[in-house]
Amino acid sequence: MPTGFLWGVSTSAHQVEGDNGNSQWSLWEAAGRIKSGEHCGQACDWWRNAERDFDLARGLGLNAMRLSVEWSRLEPEEGQWDGQAFARYRAMLAGLRERGMRPFVSLHHFSHPLWFERLGGFMGKRAVELFARFTQRVVGELGDFCCDWVTFNEPNVYAALGYVLGEFPPGHKGELLSAVRVLSSMGRAHARAYHTIHQLQESAQVGWAHNYVVFQPASSGGKLDRLVASLAGELFNNSFLRVIEEGGMGFPLSLANGDLAQARGTCDFVGLNVYSRFHVAFDTSYGSQLFGRAFVPPEAPQGDQGTDNAYGEAYPRALRCAAERASRLKKPIYILENGVPDSADNIRPWLIVNAVKELHDLIGEGQDIRGYFHWTLTDNFEWSEGWRLKFGLYAMNPATQERRARGSAGLYKAIVEANGLEVSLWKKYGTPPVRAGGPATF
Ligand code: BGC
Repeated sequence: MPTGFLWGVSTSAHQVEGDNGNSQWSLWEAAGRIKSGEHCGQACDWWRNAERDFDLARGLGLNAMRLSVEWSRLEPEEGQWDGQAFARYRAMLAGLRERGMRPFVSLHHFSHPLWFERLGGFMGKRAVELFARFTQRVVGELGDFCCDWVTFNEPNVYAALGYVLGEFPPGHKGELLSAVRVLSSMGRAHARAYHTIHQLQESAQVGWAHNYVVFQPASSGGKLDRLVASLAGELFNNSFLRVIEEGGMGFPLSLANGDLAQARGTCDFVGLNVYSRFHVAFDTSYGSQLFGRAFVPPEAPQGDQGTDNAYGEAYPRALRCAAERASRLKKPIYILENGVPDSADNIRPWLIVNAVKELHDLIGEGQDIRGYFHWTLTDNFEWSEGWRLKFGLYAMNPATQERRARGSAGLYKAIVEANGLEVSLWKKYGTPPVRAGGPATF
């Protein structure tokens, strides 16, 4: 990889910090909305001791790490700021710097304060202004340690899971129009935060993390399968990208948008979070999902399953599809998440080497890809799936906080040390594994 290429891992506050009862996710958990009934509890204990995992990350030779700040800690009540919480984040970012890692800080990774949720979250009238004030405060307090800012993690996932599928708070189902509205509001909040950050920090680089899924028309593929697959791609992959690229979502979504012109061009990089491919078939019983039934064929490589649904086909080539689409914005690209739930580490080595090979090829073809952040360092609290899905290079037992390296940790370290993929690793791990699914063990 080019000199200066960033090798990192990504995390988010709610999934790793623990002991916070003040966000809309705490309420969601208390209401029994995690499919396993679990709570994130102490999570990975970062609020007390993130440094233990920073040491693990340094041990892998990483030169970057992405984390998020928890708004509900920093502004526990509207307009009240917690100085100690800012101090803790300053210490964490300083800790990363001391260990040679460049921090990428996300301002919003799915969780926010209860008081903000009660005002309607991003549907609330004052959402843009409140998020701008929060951004201003964070950059003022943490800007000495960080100049790479991710305004939002995956607005498209936040809107789809919170307003269409009902798996994230506020738990609405089938409300496509609300999803478009919330996405638009996040577009405006992003644009405002972009300018706020640049006013405060000359060296700032500001982007967002975009989740990109490949929607493949079902192989039986008639015209209707192609139509519903492309509709899914248009809504999920393209709508927010177009907000930044063009200052609007395009007709007919623009009818529900409000003015988004101010969002045009508001990014210095595009962050891509890339995991899966889904096959999509036209199915009249899936009206609330615009007649597209997404599924994973049984022979496709997969990691562990979610409680009710497949997590998705593990598909390293999705990185190519995502990067080629994102390159239309003509900005540097960082892969800010890529990984697979795989407790037994059956398929992860294959995914990692194929992801790195894909990036290597893309860079060779002229794509400006500047970093790869694996999701994630240790197993953490996987939103509505609780502790079930294990994405860590390290297995982590939440009861004992014990960490144990999976084979992929050593593999990633070797790639990072070589700044690329040695032929021997490609030969060993490059071919598709036999269907995954070993026992779910710690
Ligand atoms: C999210 C992470 C999540 C990961 C694995 C991403 O969409 O940003 O928070 O843990 O996927 O599902």
